[in-house]
Amino acid sequence: MGTSKKFYLRCSLCGSEIEDFSKWLNSDQRCPECGSKRAEVRYRENIEKLKNLIKKNALASNGLWHYFDFLPLNERRNIVTGGEGIVPIDRWEFLEEYARERFHLNCHVYAHRHDDNYSTGTFKDLSGTVVASVLKENNIKNYVVASTGNIAVSYSRYLTAAGISLYAFIPENSSPSQEAEIACFGQQVFRVKGDYTRAKEMALDFSNKMKIPLAAGNFDPMRLEAKKTMLFEWLRMMAEFPTVYIQALSGGTGPLAIDKGCKELEPLNLIKRMPRFILVQSNKCSPMADAWGEAKLKGFPEGWEKTYPIYHNPETMIPTLATGYPTTYPVLSPLVRASGGEIISCDEQATVLMARLVAFKRSVRIGPAAAIVVGGFIKALRKGHIREEDVVLLNIGEGIRRAPEFMERMIYTSKKVKSMEECFLSDKEEYERRLWEQTENWDF
Ligand SMILES: Cc1ncc(COP(=O)(O)O)c(C=O)c1O
Ligand SMILES: [Zn+2]
Repeated sequence: MGTSKKFYLRCSLCGSEIEDFSKWLNSDQRCPECGSKRAEVRYRENIEKLKNLIKKNALASNGLWHYFDFLPLNERRNIVTGGEGIVPIDRWEFLEEYARERFHLNCHVYAHRHDDNYSTGTFKDLSGTVVASVLKENNIKNYVVASTGNIAVSYSRYLTAAGISLYAFIPENSSPSQEAEIACFGQQVFRVKGDYTRAKEMALDFSNKMKIPLAAGNFDPMRLEAKKTMLFEWLRMMAEFPTVYIQALSGGTGPLAIDKGCKELEPLNLIKRMPRFILVQSNKCSPMADAWGEAKLKGFPEGWEKTYPIYHNPETMIPTLATGYPTTYPVLSPLVRASGGEIISCDEQATVLMARLVAFKRSVRIGPAAAIVVGGFIKALRKGHIREEDVVLLNIGEGIRRAPEFMERMIYTSKKVKSMEECFLSDKEEYERRLWEQTENWDF
């Protein structure tokens, strides 16, 4: 049926049109003409139709599939969903007050609350539902992924629901809780002796050996389409469009997807400017932030975007962000520069304090890959990366239940007691004063 379908893929290198995902998946997820691994989904539906979907507070009862017309699936009956995608976007005034009092800066701060995602509690659920649905529509029965955690958990849940077998290659240092979350759905886990880079190599070999598709990483058009809906949600839910987007950075699918979405929306003239991307890496695995810092220091000389370090076996307590070999940097970093943004690192030890602060001020429990975004915001304030009247959107990418080990570090008010004399009334103001004092003194 070719052209009657609602979308096609367009090769990012040679521009040729690839009819559908079946063709793409059957050509090793490459352009059949030139072999490029990057292709973009294009829709035949008039983009004007999106206006109705993103009307302020338009009712979105189907989760992310509210945007079905602009997602790469032909038949609604193939949707595999856990009710993900439509999550709150809250105003976090306590961070606005901090910026005002401490830096004399007026900005608005919003939190896109993926910790509340219904399925596995991370923003990877957006990819989970789209990938599982597309694979189901294309009759795929087996799928391979290399993952530091969240993506494999999400794929495991959704692919199980779609009746598809998943083979998840995880690095040696992945936590047992991550492993359990993947395995509990009955999917196969391979714990690889080595780091994430090694897990990726083994996943590729397995995919070649068994002739089954491999999750295509950060340029995967299915994932990009899924995450682009975050941008649609900002338009639907927020009174103002963000001027700054802050996200924890591992491989960079999030910002790549926002960029794709902004381009898709260009004809509607709804967005004056793409937000400045402020991307935050853990200081224990920060190849992109380090490369960026070097390049910036040298004034971004010719070819700067092709120079980056590779870190093997990064020792970090946030394995979900542990991409030591930043293959997307040459594409991602020019985007960050064009947006007027920054790639920074943040002391990962600060995530415990940030999570306590957010829980205290907002009653929201965030995981480490989200807490590093809050730390990144404070560091960005200190470095002058946030400007007067900015509208800052924080991607709160995961809830605390994704990281039980991290959760245990929330224990900080306990006192062991034997008798009533040792028990006392507590002073909430004093707690808060101490949280801010520690924040103030922290070297992020
Ligand atoms: C909660 C959370 N935030 C951020 C990221 C990084 O995402 P990206 O692929 O856009 O770098 C991940 C996963 O890698 C994640 O799980
Ligand atoms: Zn091509």
